[in-house]
This record gives sequence, C-alpha cells and structure tokens, in this order.
Amino acid sequence: MPSSSRPPLRDIRRSRAVASRIAGTGHYGPERVLTNRDLEQMVDTSDEWIVERTGIRQRHIAAEGEASSDMAAHAARAALQAAGIEASELDLIIVATISPDAPLPSTAVLVQQKIGARNDCPAFDIAAACAGFIYGLSIADRFIASGSARHVLVVGVELLSRVINWKDRTTCVLFGDGAGAAIVTAPEGERGLLSTHIYADGSQAAALRIPAGGSAQPASHATVDAGQHYVHMSGQDVFKYAVRALTSASLTALEANEIDKEQVAWVVPHQANLRIIEAVSKRVGIGLERFVLNIERFGNTSSASIPIALDEAIRVGKIKPGDLVLMCALGAGFAWGSALIRF
Ligand code: ACO
Repeated sequence: MPSSSRPPLRDIRRSRAVASRIAGTGHYGPERVLTNRDLEQMVDTSDEWIVERTGIRQRHIAAEGEASSDMAAHAARAALQAAGIEASELDLIIVATISPDAPLPSTAVLVQQKIGARNDCPAFDIAAACAGFIYGLSIADRFIASGSARHVLVVGVELLSRVINWKDRTTCVLFGDGAGAAIVTAPEGERGLLSTHIYADGSQAAALRIPAGGSAQPASHATVDAGQHYVHMSGQDVFKYAVRALTSASLTALEANEIDKEQVAWVVPHQANLRIIEAVSKRVGIGLERFVLNIERFGNTSSASIPIALDEAIRVGKIKPGDLVLMCALGAGFAWGSALIRF
C-alpha cells in the first residue's frame, strides 16, 4: 500500500462542523437463498471449506427478471420511509454498483423512475466496487456541505450472481445479491457524518476484475467462450491488501477525529470474508463483539454489504442514537475507505 507524507486533502474535514447525517436506511435481499449445501451440488466444494475459509453459510440470489434497479428501488423505498422523506424531495440519487442493469443508461436514472423521484433529480452511478457505499456517502456529504443538495439517496446494489462463473469454485461461493440504501440529509447538532476517507490504488487493478465487456475488450463470442465476462480474482492478494488497507483507513478515521477506539460503539465493515474482518478487528484493537456481522447470511454483496448490515443493525436496535459507528470497505481497483458517523 503506497504511503505519502503529503497531508491529505480529505483531512480538511476536521476544520468544520458536521455537514450531514444518515436519516434513514433500508435494505433488500432477494427471496431465494442458496446455501453452501446447494453449492456442493454445483461445484467441487463443501460447507465446511466455505464456512472455515470465509464464514459464509448462505447467500441471496435474485429472481429471473429481477434487475439491480428493482432491488435498489426496494431498498430506497424502505430508506425513504425510515427517514420520513418523499421521493419527490430528493435532490440527488447516487447508485454504487458494478453490476448495473446495463452499461447504458445509468442504473441511477432507472431508480429515479422506479421510486417516483422528480424527473429532473440528478442521478448517477459510481463504480468503486465494494467501497462504493463509502464513496457514495463521501460524495453525498460534500453535496450537502456545499449547499447543492438537501436530501441525497445513496444506494449500494449488486446482482453479482449474473457476473460470476458458477463453475469456478474459487469465486462462486463468495458472492451474493442485495441492495442497501441510506438517505443523507442535514445534521442534527453533533450527530452526523464526522469524516470520510477514500483511497484508490490502480496498480492493483488486475487483482480483481471483469476483463471483457468494456471498451478494452468488447464482448464477443470469443470473450464469452473464454469466460472473460465473469469476475476474475487473485484471492490471496485481495486478502492481504484488504487487511492492511482496512486497518489503515479505520485508524485514520479515528485519528482524524481524535476518537479513541473505546468510544466506538459499532464497526460496520464490508462483509467480504470473516477472516479479513477478524484480522482487522485485532489490528485496530476493537473486539469482534463490536462488529456488525451478517456475512453468514448474505455472503459478499460488494457495495451493498455495508448498507445492508447497517440497516439490519439499526432495525434490531443494535445501533442507537448517539452511537459512534465506524465503517470500512475495500474492493476492486483497489478502492477503499472509511467513514465515521455519530448516529
Ligand atoms: N471449495 C473447496 N476448495 C477450494 C475452494 C472452494 N470453494 N476454493 C478454492 N479451493 C481450494 C484451492 O483450489 C486450493 O487448493 P490447492 O491447495 O489444492 O491448490 C485451496 O482450496 C486453498 O486455496 P486458497 O486460495 O489458498 O484459499 P484461501 O485460504 O486463500 O481462501 C479465499 C480463498 C476465500 C478466496 C480467500 O483468499 C479470500 O477470501 N480472499 C479475499 C477475496 C475477497 O474477499 N474478494 C471479494 C472481493 S474484494 C473484497 O470484497 C475485499
């Protein structure tokens, strides 16, 4: 991971008051559940191997005909309801996804229509893979801080079951489908988003990618025959980098806000692999009992994983008003980051 002595521009946030908060969250998991036992019938794997290496027991799989924008709209409606805000009040829609409905147009404009937001509400997608929700929060916060938006919808949605090779046991056991959403709006006193720190390292771009289907390698019979339209991953490289980067981004969030790790009520990490999360817990020095975990039931849902876990934790009353919540994620790129929020 590159290091730099240059004071990062992102720490400029320390000098001003809280600009935004999460006013409501929602999530959606498709009805169909695929268990590890089901996977044993599909590839040469076992429930024991998957649980021991990843912590995953099952994942949700979208129905035929269901698209990312449908799942995003479900999660968005729940978040709007929780925030007490009408879709017509949204000033901006950000959808973080690497599994859009189609390359063109953005999934965000489709969500705008499905939830009944205004026809002139700006809407765009961001592609920061598993870090997409943190990137989205960071953008939303800045739009609100600058006075350009009052209510921003940030959605993380992935339909990874359509972009993984179901014959490749090294990837197909890891991922799942789902959506999570948050309404970002004006803060209440000291409650709100204290900071976001976002990073990317393109020198690692080959470690996790879908090689074909874009301008470099347009989709063709040859690329499809070679399985180049599926996720390709160097698992151990991702693992090692993720532990270092997630630890570093988490510690940076605490230092930038002069917060002691004991003050953190909950960590909501990207749910990629329980072993990655355990390693980060040890290195950051926050016990695993203070981590929100749902990887067992959802697998890795990339950009959706943090908002799904966050929404579950809020709805069951784990996360309470006033709690300090730390989030961290890393994904393809590599792109990664952290966010610290006082709920
Ligand atoms: N079932 C059974 N055996 C398997 C499976 C499987 N599903 N997958 C791989 N194996 C085998 C391998 O072939 C290998 O066999 P060999 O020793 O005979 O060659 C053996 O298991 C060990 O494989 P490793 O790749 O060394 O296993 P590792 O302990 O590294 O676990 C894993 C693999 C789970 C992919 C891990 O590296 C990982 O989680 N990496 C992070 C990847 C990730 O999270 N990516 C998500 C996107 S990025 C993000 O969200 C952070």
